[in-house]
Order: sequence, then structure tokens, then C-alpha cells
Amino acid sequence: MEIQLPEIVNVKLEDVLLKRRSVREYLGAPLTIRELSHILFAAYGITNEKGFKTVPSAGATYPLNIYVNVKDVEGIPEGIYKYIPERHSILRVSERELSYELAVAALRQMFIATAPIVLIIAAKFERTTSVYGERGYRYVHMEVGHVAQNVYLMATSLGLGTVSIGAFIDSEVEEILKGIVDGHVLLLMPVGRKP
Ligand SMILES: Cc1cc2nc3c(=O)[nH]c(=O)nc-3n(C[C@H](O)[C@H](O)[C@H](O)COP(=O)(O)O)c2cc1C
Repeated sequence: MEIQLPEIVNVKLEDVLLKRRSVREYLGAPLTIRELSHILFAAYGITNEKGFKTVPSAGATYPLNIYVNVKDVEGIPEGIYKYIPERHSILRVSERELSYELAVAALRQMFIATAPIVLIIAAKFERTTSVYGERGYRYVHMEVGHVAQNVYLMATSLGLGTVSIGAFIDSEVEEILKGIVDGHVLLLMPVGRKP
């Protein structure tokens, strides 16, 4: 199942840098598809006809795949979806949402399981290392940082909260997402309404 996301409207960024903070508590309220759309666009949306994106990428190699675990978004069945930047759509790759399992694998940071969505940022290193060799690994990690900051700023701008989650057991996350996610998971980002 592929779901078309709404168009992006201009979002004011003033004061967002001052307001950005890591948020680890979320209301038990759904997100709207519009909010999801804006978060994904900020993360890895396409902004010109060449396919360049909201984030810089070494050699425009774009090594990242962005997924979203949907637990509670109005009008969208739960599950895990792959973001398709080319069509600004999401494609369901798992009918089960796995936020509880991910929270446990993230050293039991259980607030992750309460978030209506969790972004899963995965890397296909070879897209960048095939061009830059060993140095490509550092470029991929830098790019994840760009994505994460965009997500933080868009979430803040929408009045939502998020946090970068780098503390998790790689092998456990890999096992949970086996056959669902293509690439090595580098970062998780729960997003939800602030209390
Ligand atoms: C690469 C990276 C990994 C992080 N991993 C976690 C994490 O696993 N759990 C968590 O609660 N916060 C995590 N954080 C968030 C930091 O704790 C947070 O950014 C820091 O305390 C500063 O607070 P602020 O973001 O509100 O300015 C991570 C941040 C970064 C950049």
C-alpha cells in the first residue's frame, strides 16, 4: 500500500533554533498526516528537479533510507513505512508497528514506545563508499546529523517534540527490522505531541 502525502506549506522557522530541545515525553494523541508529511519532507524531501534534497549529501550520493514506524497517525494504518522522496509518499513495508520492540532494544528507553511515530534512519554505506572509499563512512554519519537536525527543527516548528536516539543494541535492532529495513540503522527519532 502506497499513500500520497499532502503538499508542504511554508513553515516559519523564526525562534525555532532557540526553542529546539530534546523531548522524551509524548501525549497519547495522534499526529496528522500533514504533520507526518512535514517531518518526512524535512528529513529527506526533494527540493529541485535534479533530485537534490533538504539535506546536503557528499557527492549527492544520498546513502540514507528513511522509514517511519506509524503507531498513531490519523487515517494511516499502523505499521512501518518507507519514505519515497521521489514521490513524497510512504510505502508500507510492515503491517506491524514495532515501537515497543525498538524501545526495548534501545536500552529500554520506553518513552520510544509511547510516540505516535518513530523515524528509523538507515544507511546504505556503499552508495557513498563506492565513490569516496573509506572516507565515505564518515560522510554518511555526517549526513545523518543533517537529517536529524532538520527533523528537530521541523518538529519544533510544528510544536512537536523529538529526540535523537543513538543508544541501542545494533544486533537487536537489526533482528527486529530484518526483512523490513534495507540498510544499517544509525538513528531512531520518536516524534510526538509535547505534554
Ligand atoms: C548522536 C546522538 C545520540 C543521542 N542518543 C540519545 C539517546 O539514546 N537517548 C536520549 O534520550 N537522548 C539522546 N541524545 C540526545 C542528547 O541527550 C541531547 O541532545 C542532549 O542532552 C542535549 O539536549 P538538547 O538536545 O535538548 O539540547 C542523542 C543525541 C545525539 C546527537
